[in-house]
Amino acid sequence: MHTLEPLPVADKPAAYAELARSLRALLEGEPDLIACAANMAALLYWSLPDLNWAGFYLVEPRTGDLLLGPFQGKPGCVRIPIGRGVCGTAAGRRETVVVADVHAFEGHIACDSASNSEVVVPILDGERLIGVLDLDSPVPARFDGEDARGLEVLVQVFVAAIRGRSSGASGRDAASTSLVS
Ligand code: SME
Repeated sequence: MHTLEPLPVADKPAAYAELARSLRALLEGEPDLIACAANMAALLYWSLPDLNWAGFYLVEPRTGDLLLGPFQGKPGCVRIPIGRGVCGTAAGRRETVVVADVHAFEGHIACDSASNSEVVVPILDGERLIGVLDLDSPVPARFDGEDARGLEVLVQVFVAAIRGRSSGASGRDAASTSLVS
């Protein structure tokens, strides 16, 4: 059984380091993409404060679109073409996108009207795009560069798990980030 407590936000790097340890333990020895994504979505949703959605969009090989994957929160839109919305933008640029005000982001796709800010991290296995990790918050400007760094490390842990590798991910080779206000 896993006991999930919201993490303190005062020291985000410490909170994300703790979350990375929890995620490694949770995904240890299980390379199934859907199982790992489902448990990671639950871990993030129940550990990080002020979220109303946490989940995955995964590249559909047949079309190249982002297709709704495991998540926690209200029902999401199902299919997002690369380049569309915050998710498609992060996937197309292959970089993390932090949006302080989703209402000011041209092309933002509103799935839950409660969302006011968002962060999307691309999931890359080498050069191959697997999908994106998407977190939404009702709090304006909920996410910053520290969240982006922390989440990028968590995504590295996820990729290592589904490739059957252990990860000592430090974030040094993580994706770059766009901050959008
Ligand atoms: N807002 C996202 C769509 C996904 S939902 O937030 C779950 C976007 O603009 O891509």
